[in-house]
Amino acid sequence: MLLNSVVLTAFLGSLAGAAPAQGPAVTCCDALSLILQEKVVQLGNKTTENEYKNTRYTYWTERSSEVTPSCFVKPSSSEDVSATLKILSQPQYRNVLSCKFAIRSGGHTPWPAAAINGGVTIDLSNMRKLEVAEDRKSIGVGAGNKWGMVYSKLEQMDLAVSGGRWGNVGVGGLLTGGGLSFFQGKRGLACDGILNHEVVLSNGTIVQANPKVNTDLYKALKGGNNNFGIVTRFDLEAFQQGKIWGGGILHAAKDPTTLSWFTNFANSSLTDLDSMVMYSTVPLFGQWMSGGLVTYAKNVTDPSSFRDFYNTSLFSTASITTYNQIAQFNAIGTPFGGRAVWATFSFKNNAAFMRTVIDLAAQESRTMPLFSPGIQLIFQPLWKAPRAKVLAETGGNSLGLDDQGDLIIVLCSSGSRRAADDMTINLAMKGFINKATQKARDAGVYSSYIYLNYAAEFQDPIAGYGESNRAQLIAVSEKYDPIQLFQKQVPGGFKLRRAEGDWV
Ligand SMILES: *[C@@H]1O[C@H](CO)[C@@H](O)[C@H](O)[C@H]1NC(C)=O
Ligand SMILES: *[C@@H]1O[C@H](CO)[C@@H](O)[C@H](O)[C@H]1NC(C)=O
Ligand SMILES: *[C@@H]1O[C@H](CO)[C@@H](O)[C@H](O)[C@H]1NC(C)=O
Ligand SMILES: *[C@@H]1O[C@H](CO)[C@@H](O)[C@H](O)[C@H]1NC(C)=O
Ligand SMILES: *[C@@H]1O[C@H](CO)[C@@H](O)[C@H](O)[C@H]1NC(C)=O
Repeated sequence: MLLNSVVLTAFLGSLAGAAPAQGPAVTCCDALSLILQEKVVQLGNKTTENEYKNTRYTYWTERSSEVTPSCFVKPSSSEDVSATLKILSQPQYRNVLSCKFAIRSGGHTPWPAAAINGGVTIDLSNMRKLEVAEDRKSIGVGAGNKWGMVYSKLEQMDLAVSGGRWGNVGVGGLLTGGGLSFFQGKRGLACDGILNHEVVLSNGTIVQANPKVNTDLYKALKGGNNNFGIVTRFDLEAFQQGKIWGGGILHAAKDPTTLSWFTNFANSSLTDLDSMVMYSTVPLFGQWMSGGLVTYAKNVTDPSSFRDFYNTSLFSTASITTYNQIAQFNAIGTPFGGRAVWATFSFKNNAAFMRTVIDLAAQESRTMPLFSPGIQLIFQPLWKAPRAKVLAETGGNSLGLDDQGDLIIVLCSSGSRRAADDMTINLAMKGFINKATQKARDAGVYSSYIYLNYAAEFQDPIAGYGESNRAQLIAVSEKYDPIQLFQKQVPGGFKLRRAEGDWV
């Protein structure tokens, strides 16, 4: 590192003295490869052509894999990330297109939030440290891990953490966006299980953010996406976890009994909070099928909270299993996202409104391009029950949910078959979200909360956290990132200030 610092200082000194018009432009990727050497994989370098290509194709969807950065930087330590940001934050690189950058952990976001054309993609996937504390109460997780890797290790020790339910989702994105988990009913969102973040700030300084130091940053990062720094390591609360019950359930077309079951299930004063469901409805020839992924966090066959859903089903794979097996199975079932388009909104638990939304999705699906899958809806409870506990134990998060009741998160999923249809599908999805949220307002069940990890590029989840939360996030960003590097030089992800019309 000492040698690198000397080289860096000399290099930056020479840059600072150079007039812009002199000689060939020195790109940020050149500067980065001088310091980080083989950890920088540049476009057009014959030696590393295959690595460049392979890295590009590790994204979940085609839209992200089609993006062509000038280089990938693949740090293996937080010091490498620090060196990278010390270069990218140089004043002469502001507003230089090739110095704009993206930050990528697992690369599962359907739209290219973690990829950048012509710029620098910081790919954290080599940062896969995984350390279980001796007292088994916490684990340290490098930001490049995917949940499947974390769970494979923890499961052998009868431990778990609040994390993603798909093994192929990255740790960094899920946790900085909130994170739905198998254990949400009792433990809140996955970000609520974070004990400490290790963060590299825009000036390259490495800091910790936890309930004792940098507490404002600690809270902001829980939901605040990539707006404050690059998180290189998360320390997560670990807990004892044995076998669970879970699997998939399929229902006949338009079975109304499942709707009333779901509404009771999503009511935190009626439900068993060890349960989890992703209840989905799929348009089918003007009708809809329903089904879902269910889990119950205990070794209990056929738990009563699911009985009305389970005992009327056509087909079920639910059995005694482990949360790791479910996560691995989910990953195997969805290795590539194709040209998936996701968007989301939330509403206050209400059966009549749910029916309205399902009918609206079926209707809008009929107007979508031929061969598009239409709009599939996945409903998930976001119970108020665990929030008081989370607030007391960790000071809460930046999601603006503290005063809200039981919500339902709706993942609206579609996709196109070819690039030429991407915009059409996005616009159809935008139209659907506008209509659905208007109907929610009319029905008095509107919620501003937009779950960031399902949000489309045209949505503004930070605004959905509420104005005072947003103002707080902006204050934290100005404190830890005074040059506003993460607002100005990182176009991907969800920014703190967004104007209507930023997306067309
Ligand atoms: C291409 O990449 C290799 C491996 O990192 C490096 O040694 C070499 O200097 C690069 N070539 C150019 C022209 O940058
Ligand atoms: C949830 O259940 C409680 C207790 O039965 C009931 O009072 C409340 O109205 C229910 N909430 C909704 C949204 O149905
Ligand atoms: C799970 O429950 C069954 C039935 O009660 C019991 O036989 C089995 O030993 C339990 N398994 C574990 C791992 O606790
Ligand atoms: C399903 O279980 C519920 C609750 O135990 C019961 O009321 C209902 O009759 C059952 N339905 C069927 C088809 O078995
Ligand atoms: C880096 O930025 C942080 C936050 O603004 C500041 O506290 C720290 O002193 C800075 N470090 C250096 C070396 O300038």
